[in-house]
Order: sequence, then C-alpha cells, then structure tokens
Amino acid sequence: MKANKWIVAMTAGVMAIGILSGCGNSDTPSGQNREPQSAAAVQEEKRTKASETGGNGGETEGALEKTGTSIAIESESAKKDAPQGGKTLVVYYSASGHTEDVANVIADEMGADLFELEPVNPYTSDDLNYTNADSRVSREHENEEQRNVELVSVEVEDWDVYETVFIGYPIWWGIAAWPVDSFVETNDFAGKTVIPFCTSASSGFGESGELLEEKAGGGDWQEGIRFSSGVSEEDVRNWVSGLGLEQ
Ligand SMILES: Cc1cc2nc3c(=O)[nH]c(=O)nc-3n(C[C@H](O)[C@H](O)[C@H](O)COP(=O)(O)O)c2cc1C
Repeated sequence: MKANKWIVAMTAGVMAIGILSGCGNSDTPSGQNREPQSAAAVQEEKRTKASETGGNGGETEGALEKTGTSIAIESESAKKDAPQGGKTLVVYYSASGHTEDVANVIADEMGADLFELEPVNPYTSDDLNYTNADSRVSREHENEEQRNVELVSVEVEDWDVYETVFIGYPIWWGIAAWPVDSFVETNDFAGKTVIPFCTSASSGFGESGELLEEKAGGGDWQEGIRFSSGVSEEDVRNWVSGLGLEQ
C-alpha cells in the first residue's frame, strides 16, 4: 500500500505539526453560493487577526511559519492588475494549513481570488489521526461510500468569469483529500484551464489530478504539482511564474 512508505517516512515532528494545527474553524456560517475572497482581503483578515491576538494570526497561521520558514505574504496581489480576458480562482481544501499557505501564495502571485472548501463537519485533530484505525479519516479511507463530505458551499459566485482554476488539496493515502471531490463533481469546468496542486509529507502527485479530472468530466486539466508540506514561498512563486499565465 502506498501509505506505508509515507507513514514510515514521516517524522513525529511532521505529525505533530499536522495534528496540533488541527482543522478549520467550525463557526463558518453556512451558505449556498459564496463569494470568493481576494488574496489581498485574506491577508488583511490575517493581519487584523494577528493584531487582535498580538500574535501571527491564530490557528489559521501558516504551516510554513510553523516550520520556521518565514512566509510574509504581503498584498502584492493588490498591486497587480486583474488578469485580462478571464479571472483566476484558487480553490483549496486544507485540513491543517499547509495547502492553504500554498494557495495564498499562488493567489497573491496571480492576483487571483480564493475559495476555501470547508466541510460542514470540520475535521478535528482526532478525526485526522490516521494512526488510529477507528478515526474518522481512517474509517472514510476504508469505506469509500463514507467519503462524501458535505461542504459549506460548492458554488462559487460568478463561476463563469473564471477562466483558470487552481485546485489545491493535501494528499491523503496517496490521493487527493476527498473533501475536494464534491466541489469537482458539482461544478462545470468546460472552457476552463484547471491546474491541480497538492501538499504532502513525502508522497508524489501520483494520480491525484487524473482522478479528479475524471470526476470533473470536463475542463482542460494541466499537469499538476506536488509541494512538500514545508515548501518555501519562493519555490511556489517560481512555479507559478514559470507557468507563463497572464497575471
Ligand atoms: C489523513 C491523512 C492522510 C495522509 N496521507 C498522506 C500520504 O499518503 N502521503 C503523504 O506524503 N502525506 C500524507 N499525509 C500528510 C499530508 O498530506 C501533509 O501533511 C499535507 O501537507 C497536509 O496538508 P494540509 O495542512 O493542507 O491539510 C496525510 C495526512 C493526513 C491527515
């Protein structure tokens, strides 16, 4: 099983970061059709939180910060012009912050909007404990029919204006974390360029993008990329700029 390799490879430190940082907020209001946030707005929210808490943004702080790699995402996106001929959206699910950090950098680099996928029942640290065979993720992994995770919203306001969609997720047992599935299955990607990206402890990108492409049933899916959980901001920016997309 693919999982064996990465479980062995992962250090206790990596696990502690993942488990301690837990899951997203559970107090997100539910709604059908959510407005994406601009990268600048997200950073402003983080700065406000940081100044309120006297810290660096509370539990949504980036995993890059936790691993000691400073990630100072300033509002570069605010300085960039909106993409011409179609907007860019960065959709992501992140259980413990690593993928969110990457998503924020991509959005900042592209001047793109952000859309976070939030399970109605967020994963707690216990839920994410894959070393426990009876945890929520372990049970969902063992029983595919339990992986249909209900999201707060799968509908992006003004979906049609986005020409390019980045989709980010953590790797769970060698594939895309399944909270992204219903978003991919629900939305119509026809006419859009789709660029998947993921973070993982050690596994590669694998078939995660192809499997999502099959679920989507449309869209021009590009080769995806895997980043290590502690990837530097510079590496993410270099990858984005190397794509040659209009920013
Ligand atoms: C349930 C679960 C399964 C995971 N499976 C893998 C895996 O198969 N391969 C791997 O390299 N890392 C695996 N990881 C580690 C995550 O992919 C990695 O920590 C990722 O960066 C977490 O992203 P996030 O902070 O955005 O949730 C797993 C983590 C969890 C919680």
